[in-house]
Amino acid sequence: MAKILLTGGAGYIGSHTYLALLEAGFEVVVFDNFSNAKPDVPDRLQQIAGQAVHLVRGDVLDRAALDAVFADHQIDGVVHFAAKKAVGESVAQPIDYMHTNIGGLLTLLAAMEEAGVRRLVFSSSATVYGDTEVQPIPEDHPRTYTSPYAYTKIAGEQILEQLPAPWAIGILRYFNPVGAHRSALIGEDPADIPNNLVPYIAKVATGELSELGVFGDDYNTPDGTGVRDYIHVEDLARGHVLSLQALLDSGKGHTVNLGTGEGSSVLEVVAAYSDACGRALPYRIQPRRDGDVAVLTARPEKARELLGFEATRSLSDMCRSSWAWVSGQIRNARD
Ligand code: WQD
Repeated sequence: MAKILLTGGAGYIGSHTYLALLEAGFEVVVFDNFSNAKPDVPDRLQQIAGQAVHLVRGDVLDRAALDAVFADHQIDGVVHFAAKKAVGESVAQPIDYMHTNIGGLLTLLAAMEEAGVRRLVFSSSATVYGDTEVQPIPEDHPRTYTSPYAYTKIAGEQILEQLPAPWAIGILRYFNPVGAHRSALIGEDPADIPNNLVPYIAKVATGELSELGVFGDDYNTPDGTGVRDYIHVEDLARGHVLSLQALLDSGKGHTVNLGTGEGSSVLEVVAAYSDACGRALPYRIQPRRDGDVAVLTARPEKARELLGFEATRSLSDMCRSSWAWVSGQIRNARD
């Protein structure tokens, strides 16, 4: 049974990928500093999976900690989530973002090289495409950064492109991950007021926030609001498993979009979430948000051709799973 190191495995996408890797028959070691993960995530993962999480608390900038993991475990491949991911925060803290996201990747690569481990799945983002009229976006679209966060993702991809065989790298460009695990025991759990649409709507649905601000209704889209390619986090997790399996089986790398190819507007998401939670959700049209583009959707074919990946869950599934998660959290907090 192949053993996988999952950096950032206690985070939102990392925890869902952890479960998908177990389901696929992998052994997994989770490496996380819990800078963006609640301390009870490993307990919840154990509750869902019925087995203890093999957890190592550590930071990807800590070379000695990484060396110790590779010394203690026969690791066959790595899925690297541990990074900072907030666009706005990266504008305020560019050096911290470059240190963690680029320095952390380089530290991990050096430890992998030393240990003779050369299979890596890298968490990238549609943000590497910048603002573009080309929609849906193919993987060969030029990369351009619009924030320090986006720069760190492009830099990460370019670093990985320098690695010769026998390195085999899977670069996965996520579009808009949303939703929660079918168990409703894990999901997106932002520490403060969310920047992203669905976790913000979720807090309106639970009553923690009073109304959603819709950032512009004058875009050149069917209803005037922004259109994005939302993908269920469980589909996204499965994409990581397929990427890893392709690397382990073929030793060949790939760069693919992970999206549905379908776009949904802000108001369509509000309507889907209203259906999921059973009440009309209040919103107010506000000015556009700086840096937003009208439409961002993926060309999804390459992931299907190379990995056999296809997103299966609908926007309704995404909203229902998110509502089950956040409403369960509120009930537990009351009990
Ligand atoms: C979606 C739509 C907003 C909040 C971001 C990052 C990207 C990636 C995914 C890391 C847009 C509108 C939002 C709100 C709104 N992260 N909106 N009111 O901006 O597409 O992508 O997250 O890789 O790098 O940029 O996602 O959820 O912030 O916005 O109207 O309170 O919802 O204008 O049209 P985005 P988002």
